[in-house]
Amino acid sequence: MRVFITGGSGWIGSAVVPELISAGHEVVGLARSERSAAALREAGAEAVAGDIDSLDVLRENAAASDAVIHLAFKHDFDNFAAAGTTERAAMETFIDALDGSGKPLLFASGVALLAPGRVATENDASPFSGPTAPRGGVEPLALGSAERGIKPIALRFSPTVHGDGDHGFTAVLVDIARRTGVAGYTGDGSSRWPAVHRSDAARLVALALANPDAASVVHAVGEEGIPAREMAEAIGRGAGVPVAAIDAADVESHFGWIGAFFGLDIPASSALTRARLGWEPTGPTLLEDLAAGHYFERAAA
Ligand SMILES: NC(=O)c1ccc[n+]([C@@H]2O[C@H](COP(=O)([O-])OP(=O)(O)OC[C@H]3O[C@@H](n4cnc5c(N)ncnc54)[C@H](OP(=O)(O)O)[C@@H]3O)[C@@H](O)[C@H]2O)c1
Repeated sequence: MRVFITGGSGWIGSAVVPELISAGHEVVGLARSERSAAALREAGAEAVAGDIDSLDVLRENAAASDAVIHLAFKHDFDNFAAAGTTERAAMETFIDALDGSGKPLLFASGVALLAPGRVATENDASPFSGPTAPRGGVEPLALGSAERGIKPIALRFSPTVHGDGDHGFTAVLVDIARRTGVAGYTGDGSSRWPAVHRSDAARLVALALANPDAASVVHAVGEEGIPAREMAEAIGRGAGVPVAAIDAADVESHFGWIGAFFGLDIPASSALTRARLGWEPTGPTLLEDLAAGHYFERAAA
């Protein structure tokens, strides 16, 4: 298959591209810089120049490919609304380009906030709908494209896709602990986050592409829920700082924007994904990854 991927130079995408190539696919990746183009070429993919706002480039390459994997996202948390507008326009472009083609359209989504306080499953619908919703409300939009002869697949990643080189939420929490001298948690520390190792997430993306009729929503969840207190303890050990509950009034000043998110109890299951795709995570757990040391070597550099 010729596969067009956006975000193929990113944390998850750079693990997905080798999976696709070893499965025998021809991979074409969107690259917004020469650095990203070089990384794609080095991985064995072809690079096409363009930004995620270059809708003509998206349209042309989606139409010329057998499948699309859309992972690019503007991670500008200070301007999340604009990122959502971009995401919506990109998704509308992909849907128009693939209309009636029967081709798979895989796209990044998340398991967070599907059903706070209980274990979310693949059957829970995204609460984010409409153009002004977070991430442009693209999950329901894209899943609705099945009615237009497209095979949409929501790749719902855990809030932490961890591993050596991670610069996502776990790395942010490590940086906060080092900077403040305290590995904090909120409330009684019982709120849970699901997690997945990057290698398992990448393997799942390739499996979902290979079996587009098996599941339209997949949960990249290796661990259902790790209590915040256990994450804080592992971070405290690695960073060599004390662990403490942060008073509700100080959560924002201690953690910044990630504080409210860290306190969410958002466990998620991947039982249906495992059954439908035969996916079995094998990578290190989040606490094993934190114990391995790489999060702290990098933060110390
Ligand atoms: N990592 C997680 O824990 C996690 C959890 C839940 C959901 N997700 C979602 O999964 C997807 C992949 O995440 P990630 O962790 O791999 O993100 P990442 O490491 O930040 O990579 C983002 C990718 O998007 C590309 N990109 C960003 N802005 C772009 C633009 N304006 N034009 C073209 N390309 C652009 C980047 O290109 P450059 O390489 O050129 O910068 C990079 O390839 C995202 O949609 C993310 O929100 C991730």
